Amino acid sequence: MALVRPAPMVYIPRMTDTGMATRKAAVELLRAVLAQRRPIDEALDAHLTLREMAPRDRAFTRLLVSTTLRRLGQIDALIDGALNTPLPRGAATVRDVLRLGVSQRLFLATPSHAAVDTSVELAGLTGFAGMKGLVNAVLRRLAEDGPALLAGQDAARLNTPDWLWSRLADAYGADTAAAIAEAPLHEAPLDLSVKADPEVWAAQLDARLLPSGTLRREAGGMVPELPGFAEGAWWVQDAAAALPARLFGPVEGRRILDLCAAPGGKTAQLVAAGAAVTAIDRSTRRLKRVAENLERLGLAAELHTAEAETFTGGAPYDGVLLDAPCSATGTIRRHPDVPRLKGPEDVAKLAAAQARMLRQAVELVRPGGILIWCTCSLLPEEGEAQIDRLLAEDERLARVPVAAAEIGGSAELLTPAGDVRTLPSHWPDHGGLDGFHIARLKRRS
Ligand SMILES: C[S@@+](CC[C@H](N)C(=O)[O-])C[C@H]1O[C@@H](n2cnc3c(N)ncnc32)[C@H](O)[C@@H]1O
Repeated sequence: MALVRPAPMVYIPRMTDTGMATRKAAVELLRAVLAQRRPIDEALDAHLTLREMAPRDRAFTRLLVSTTLRRLGQIDALIDGALNTPLPRGAATVRDVLRLGVSQRLFLATPSHAAVDTSVELAGLTGFAGMKGLVNAVLRRLAEDGPALLAGQDAARLNTPDWLWSRLADAYGADTAAAIAEAPLHEAPLDLSVKADPEVWAAQLDARLLPSGTLRREAGGMVPELPGFAEGAWWVQDAAAALPARLFGPVEGRRILDLCAAPGGKTAQLVAAGAAVTAIDRSTRRLKRVAENLERLGLAAELHTAEAETFTGGAPYDGVLLDAPCSATGTIRRHPDVPRLKGPEDVAKLAAAQARMLRQAVELVRPGGILIWCTCSLLPEEGEAQIDRLLAEDERLARVPVAAAEIGGSAELLTPAGDVRTLPSHWPDHGGLDGFHIARLKRRS
């Protein structure tokens, strides 16, 4: 039985000062992602007008930009088909205005007149008053023809950049690649990890308890307003992201090093399970978020700003977790900006850095200790290939295969070698999960 997704409640600001300010901010955020390759949340946090806005206006702006990014290939194909001549050079902002207008009308159920009128106004506000007529004509045409044109599009293919599509098809075959590319078309559910009492919190939060222990709330919601947030009972963490830390087994009293810790989801799991955790991250700004998150949760860890490739403090450890920086291609359903921020050249650089971190991580585990490796990438060079190469190079290590019982009984998430490989197309009845590669290695005594 396929999951029935509830229709999202969409709040649509009208052509008031606030309504126009949110749309102007949306153009600026879209530019920041597409032209400056800045992550949407970083651009949103740095945006002065948005910082002052009411939470629901901020939420609308984020929804508008993220929906536009989810559907960018489809939207651009519609716009190109509706233009009589290509947009002039230097009119990238006008394309963004059109993209946001199409997104509102065709994907966020904004009434036609509101989507068109606010976009025409926005063209003027962003310095393109001379192109108001074109914006009006293109959006009127697409308001009318768009639904029928959408029905004939291959959404998954159009919204996936060519390089990523071919890498996915090479790795998983055309059918699985298509299923993976379907996942980002929809908002992902809200996943939570709890410190304790999952059944109690599932009832309070109107959430389902997944077989792996994660709580899943289909209705999403404003996170800080949900029961249990203020008292630190849970934190936001995708169901797949919650698996790596569990694979250490019982950790009470063990010394564990988390090498790439921010924003701290896995650190929190390990501390909550009784480990003495040292958590490092190269980013002081992101490490501050770990400190804030732990404080809210009433948990404590030793935190250091440091580079994973060179850190040696406190070694050897009973366990080391390396959740390495990667292309994040497994998280596109939660972060639709990812395919616009990363390209094949980034993957090669990231894979080289991951290999260096992995070699250093091995040195920090005591003989007999456990190393857990994971990335939220769908690409084998940032996953399976790293571990296969390491095992071929380093005789001190052995793979400890994961059993289905350790991951909620989901044997379909295991590779023949005993690693975990999750895909956004897995667990279709539960609403999917992020793509991760996870391996468990033991340093021989
Ligand atoms: C995938 S995120 C980690 C997510 C985290 N483990 C969690 O569960 O919340 C990767 C992190 O690695 C950090 N990072 C990137 N390069 C690093 C390096 N050379 N040394 C240490 N941390 C690094 C980034 O700042 C980022 O916070």
